[in-house]
Amino acid sequence: MSGKRILLVISGGIAAFKALELVRLLRRQGCGVTCVLTDNGGQFVTPLSLQALSESKVYTDLFSLTDESEMGHIQLSRAADLLVVAPATANILAKMAGGLADDLASTVLLATDKPVLVAPAMNVRMWLHPATRANMATLKQRGVHVVEPTEGAMACNEFGPGRLAEPPEIAAAIAALLAPGAKPLAGRHALVTSGPTHEPIDPVRYIANRSSGKQGHAIAAALAALGARVTLVAGPVSVPDPAGVTVRRVETAAQMLDACQSALPADIAVFAAAVADWRVEQAATGKIKKQPGAAPPALALIPNPDILATIAAAGPLRPQLVVGFAAETDDLMANAQGKLTRKNADWIVANDVSPETGIMGGAENAVHIVSAAGIETWPRLAKDDVARRLAQRIADALGYGGVIAHWFGSPDTSR
Ligand SMILES: Cc1cc2nc3c(=O)[nH]c(=O)nc-3n(C[C@H](O)[C@H](O)[C@H](O)COP(=O)(O)O)c2cc1C
Repeated sequence: MSGKRILLVISGGIAAFKALELVRLLRRQGCGVTCVLTDNGGQFVTPLSLQALSESKVYTDLFSLTDESEMGHIQLSRAADLLVVAPATANILAKMAGGLADDLASTVLLATDKPVLVAPAMNVRMWLHPATRANMATLKQRGVHVVEPTEGAMACNEFGPGRLAEPPEIAAAIAALLAPGAKPLAGRHALVTSGPTHEPIDPVRYIANRSSGKQGHAIAAALAALGARVTLVAGPVSVPDPAGVTVRRVETAAQMLDACQSALPADIAVFAAAVADWRVEQAATGKIKKQPGAAPPALALIPNPDILATIAAAGPLRPQLVVGFAAETDDLMANAQGKLTRKNADWIVANDVSPETGIMGGAENAVHIVSAAGIETWPRLAKDDVARRLAQRIADALGYGGVIAHWFGSPDTSR
């Protein structure tokens, strides 16, 4: 981070005082910090405090003649390596999403050609309001990096998501973005499911399927290799844990859904697990014994929760990109397209798992990427290669490819 230049925009939230600590942390790591304070930000922290800690002039006014002659707003927006908005109010996020430029902060943010990181902070209702949700979705789609707010008691005596992330966390996100060779998914959180689920019949028997977890685990590894923080929710598998990935081990579909919900918020969700559609209504608490001459027990099945559809309908917590898998033996494309709309997924990765393909449990996969834009058919590839290609496509879709390539050089697309 040493020698990097940060333009820090401080907007008018109650958490603006934490910007002072952030400036101190960044200076200690050798960054140059220039502050832009909004008028309302100036109600919470003084330019003098920021100037003392940053050891630099603090900019507040778009129409200050001296500022324009010393360093105009366009130059200010370009002189930094990274623009950081912390805290980011609902107001400034709305202005960024709408392209407004009615003060120095919003003008600089619109004029910049540099990457932008926002650390939102606001009342829980403001954060969960559909307008803020839509603004955040727009900003993420354009490649703006986000340090998500945390959950907890707020200054306004309410509880929920909306608290500014702590300054060390924001400083770490800045460091990740500024690291040489920073990866296209740096700062993103990806949730991946993998493997089968086991639905108990009794303490020793269960309903399962032939999924090995090879494809889901490879996707988790490939997303991590592109810099994402990855939570892998894995059913019972024998493949090793991918390096650098947080693994949550589960057995049943209900546990998998719980683990997925508690991993949110996530920017990306890839549901590669082969989740059992049904479970035994009442699993026996003791081993069911074979009785001489008696008929085999009848298993009454009930539907399992639909993890893909539930997370894709998670309202404000819906990941920006939701990818489901369709493993089919018949009518692959029709089933995949039906699944795409029925479950509100963004993409379905469709594969034919008929026994003669050798795909279920095998080392290779032949997939079609089904989305609203159409169907893309990939050649039969090793599951690792499918995973790398999918991860790169995800990075491109989230818009980082362009922004980061502009700044750090082209991403490696040779894989
Ligand atoms: C005491 C107080 C605390 C506030 N805290 C926040 C906050 O944490 N987040 C937020 O989005 N707005 C907050 N606001 C409202 C903003 O100050 C207001 O929307 C303002 O227009 C933001 O201007 P700016 O984005 O140009 O700085 C607060 C207002 C007051 C009076």
